[in-house]
Amino acid sequence: MRVVILESSESVTQFAADEVCALLKERNAKGFGAVLGLATGGTPLGLYRELIARNARREITFANVETFNLDEYVGVPPDSPCSYHYYMLENLFQHIDIDLAMTHVPITHGVELQKSAEAFELQIEQAGGIDLQILGIGSDAHIGFNEIGSSLGSRTRVKTLTERTRQDNARYFGSIDDVPQTALTMGIQTILESQSILLLATGTGKAKAIRDTVEGPITASVPASALQLHPNVTLAIDRDAASGLANADYFLAAERNRAVASRSS
Ligand code: GLP
Repeated sequence: MRVVILESSESVTQFAADEVCALLKERNAKGFGAVLGLATGGTPLGLYRELIARNARREITFANVETFNLDEYVGVPPDSPCSYHYYMLENLFQHIDIDLAMTHVPITHGVELQKSAEAFELQIEQAGGIDLQILGIGSDAHIGFNEIGSSLGSRTRVKTLTERTRQDNARYFGSIDDVPQTALTMGIQTILESQSILLLATGTGKAKAIRDTVEGPITASVPASALQLHPNVTLAIDRDAASGLANADYFLAAERNRAVASRSS
């Protein structure tokens, strides 16, 4: 795993935006669009603001980009401000030159959920797979809504949210009683099939989750630890989120060496 420890949440934003832009430009140069996996929550908001700004300055285009979101609540209509459909429109899609028909957020309203999950998996396959999956991380190290105990071989399906996740997300709903009990989420295996993965984390509230993800054993009790199995994962984290890492100095040294190597090549 590449662990990039950055000074601040703003540096995490800039690092993530640079990674996304590099992929979009590389694909554009080859004449085809990128497939992005997108996350919700507070952490990627800075990234989305930065992508909107770079798109407005015409540094990047989303004209040929296709997107797949990790998850959506069950029981929240897409036009509700609490839905992830709404979040994506509000925080990214309606501000960039993307074709909305190329954006996919799992559908949980007015559908049979298992069929919707299967259709979502098929759409990812038909798009040729996800090139770059952006991830946040829950305070208990869940990714998407793959809660503790999620099979490391899981695919898109309905998951029951833990009390802790519902508590963490209550701020978006007003009260914990309004937070749904379940969500439709990409599975861990679905996520692991992405070509590359970029996980973002900021703040001390994520320090234990990051430590368990990077330095703990691979276990379904720490869903993000499954990322250790993936050959192309980058964690971009601020100093606070890195504060629980026993090997922080090693990761900082590895990044310095990487910078030296790229200057001399
Ligand atoms: C939710 C989302 C996750 C996200 C997590 C952390 O549970 N389903 O994809 O990573 O929240 O959110 P935040 O970035 O607000 O801490």
